[in-house]
Amino acid sequence: MKILVVGGGGREHTLVWKIVQSPLVEKVYCAPGNPGIAELAECVHIPADDIDALLDFALAEEIDLTVVGPEVPLTLGIVDRFQEAGLDIFGPSQAAARIEGSKSFSKDLMAKYGIPTADYRTFSDRDEAVAYIREQGAPIVVKANGLAAGKGVVVAMTEEQAVAAVDDIMVDTIFGDAGSSVVIEEFMAGEEASFFAFTDGKNILPLASSQDHKPAFDNDKGPNTGGMGAYSPAPVVTEALADEIVKTIVRPTIDGMAQEGCPYVGILYVGLMIADGKARVVEFNARFGDPEAQPLLVRMKSDVVPVLQACARGDLSGAELEWHDKAAVCVVMASGGYPAAYEKGFEILGLDDAGEMEDVVVFHAGTSFESGKVVNTGGRVLGVTGLGATVTAAIDRAYQAVAKISWDGAHFRTDIGKKALNR
Ligand code: AMP
Ligand code: GLY
Repeated sequence: MKILVVGGGGREHTLVWKIVQSPLVEKVYCAPGNPGIAELAECVHIPADDIDALLDFALAEEIDLTVVGPEVPLTLGIVDRFQEAGLDIFGPSQAAARIEGSKSFSKDLMAKYGIPTADYRTFSDRDEAVAYIREQGAPIVVKANGLAAGKGVVVAMTEEQAVAAVDDIMVDTIFGDAGSSVVIEEFMAGEEASFFAFTDGKNILPLASSQDHKPAFDNDKGPNTGGMGAYSPAPVVTEALADEIVKTIVRPTIDGMAQEGCPYVGILYVGLMIADGKARVVEFNARFGDPEAQPLLVRMKSDVVPVLQACARGDLSGAELEWHDKAAVCVVMASGGYPAAYEKGFEILGLDDAGEMEDVVVFHAGTSFESGKVVNTGGRVLGVTGLGATVTAAIDRAYQAVAKISWDGAHFRTDIGKKALNR
């Protein structure tokens, strides 16, 4: 088979790393890819959101399966376009990707199908939003309705912060059209976890448990990021809770999407808040998590390619996934200053030393080649992933590898995986 992976971050490096191990695959392309991906696949200089160019490429190269990493091409309708051209593609249609692209769509879906989540209201009028905040009090959560690159959410501890967030989003329109309406929702206390399931629109195949670390600094301090590290398995999601999540969240979501006339195909990402042994939905995403994909795919024993193809072709029935017993921990190394402004172009040292270690895989995210050197060009630069017999051993392995890598300003959390040890 010839496979095209769309995207160029850590998640896509991990997908390519896993896909090239499949005996079914003879050639893998990645658009646009990154220097880490270039060691495994042929990188093609097409941006992930240039759907016309991607489609032309896939038709010309007779690609057998396209796998979409990021949300933007999904919300632009890449899956619909490829399917109209008769090509197999893994991911949800444009209508189904609204589950991530429109917060009000996903909240309305959850309300209609009785899926546990925070109470909410949607407002397109600033004064009505403010009046609602005054009535509800703080803490309270304000979200831009559309896609805002993971930055459109403010967990406000005071009414003033919440009102300021509404003004930023609706009056100063800092997220553009994504903020023409806001969702205001109840604050949920608890511990977050991520839950993923493959689906063909009817059948559900859950993955192992995982947990992300969104705040920039140790002990969950500082601003939210795309994710500073992740590990699997995550003991906060017990086997009994995983069954409950499938029954009360994933199953009614997949059935509800079919009922609404937009069956959901691909991988469903459920962001969860867990309190008192019960899980509620924080958000849905229409794709793999980044960095959750790193520990999950490193732990996956089964060939992922038949699963991706079965989803794309609408027949996942009978599919199963096997997992390695080992735990995996991914530590994200970021540019100094991320998630705010950061300097780029510093040479990254120690990549080969770290990459040669046993039970270590160094996934690239925001890296580029400049004059034969690998330099940092993005906020999240590397996902240094270690395997071990226990989460503790995997943490040690990952941080031993991190210690070998350096560039000016490199920054990472030192407590990835610690929450698992507290249990
Ligand atoms: P989202 O983009 O919806 O995942 O929100 C980003 C982050 O904001 C989440 O990972 C949570 O940490 C936090 N968050 C979002 N909604 C809520 C909520 N209703 N209660 C508490 N925290 C929330
Ligand atoms: N890890 C957070 C995300 O992928 O959205």
